[in-house]
Amino acid sequence: MRIFSGIQPTGEIHIGNYLGAIKQWIEFQEGNDCIYCIVDLHALTSDYDPETMRDSIMNKAIVYLAAGIDPEKSTIFVQSEVKEHTELCWYLNTLTPIGELERMTQYKEKSKRKKKRSNAGLLNYPILMAADILLYDTEVVPVGEDQKQHIELARDIAKRFNKRFGETFKVPKAQLPKKGARIMSLKNPKNKMSKSGKKGNAVSLFDDPKTIEEKIKSAVTDTDNKISYDPKDKPGISNLLVIYSEFKDQTIEESEKELKGESYKVFKEKLTEVLIESLDPFRKKRRELEKRREVYVEEILSQGAKKAKTLASSNIARVKRKMGLV
Ligand code: TYM
Repeated sequence: MRIFSGIQPTGEIHIGNYLGAIKQWIEFQEGNDCIYCIVDLHALTSDYDPETMRDSIMNKAIVYLAAGIDPEKSTIFVQSEVKEHTELCWYLNTLTPIGELERMTQYKEKSKRKKKRSNAGLLNYPILMAADILLYDTEVVPVGEDQKQHIELARDIAKRFNKRFGETFKVPKAQLPKKGARIMSLKNPKNKMSKSGKKGNAVSLFDDPKTIEEKIKSAVTDTDNKISYDPKDKPGISNLLVIYSEFKDQTIEESEKELKGESYKVFKEKLTEVLIESLDPFRKKRRELEKRREVYVEEILSQGAKKAKTLASSNIARVKRKMGLV
């Protein structure tokens, strides 16, 4: 199967990104044709610093590799290095009603937050996402829950194009993890864990043991000191239980059984221990890769872009024929 997914280069990757997306990406690498993109064009829709952008892109490539994406098995590349993404985005723009874009939850949230600083890129963001996906005849898109609506839109756009111009695009499917699809903020478990959220809301994939300990210690729980999964009435503890179970590779029921009768304090100590142990290899691998940044990582991105470009340009030629441009 052809798999495609991506992450924006800005902000620090946290365990929500890992459990929602990257963990699935790694599993898909066995026996599938995987393409993982660093979506720098999407990041331009938010405030960013041009001085540090290229550095953030390289850092994300290192994150992919440190977390276990194998360049021998998967294609890793930077979105802006394959111009066909923006070209297809334009074609798809002409097929997408504005109302559908205005209904997107992320657009509504982001434009409300930005008010006057909102921009057209923010509105068209999901069309660029559709272009990313459709350009590679993608069948499955592993993402967290917050991207599901965008993949639905990509499906609609693909169907609309096929209906108007004849069978062209595969209609992709979103693949969400069973448990970690929406990891919540440690500070306010009603909100999702986010790169741009309040300090301490997220555990970064590369936090050192002391930072992990502090963040888990100050994670919001509740007062009844009973460890059970009940996202509605006990959102804080339920979120910690999901994180614990995912990193221990066990079901939530198994975690509940294991922790029965324990205090929140003991649970938090155990969670801290599991996180430190699980994230330690990522930190070590990243340190190694930092030293090989210039040659090794650059080379992986350059090879990845070459491969992606070959696929993208033949698909664009097909799209242009169908649309009557050539
Ligand atoms: P981004 O960079 O915001 O997030 C990257 C991935 O992490 C998932 N995620 C989460 N999963 C669980 N819990 C959370 N708290 C959490 N926060 C984030 C996201 O669902 C995502 O899978 N628009 C996309 C990037 C993109 C893309 C694409 C994805 C651009 N083109 C094409 C797939 C296919 C984004 O901003 O992700």
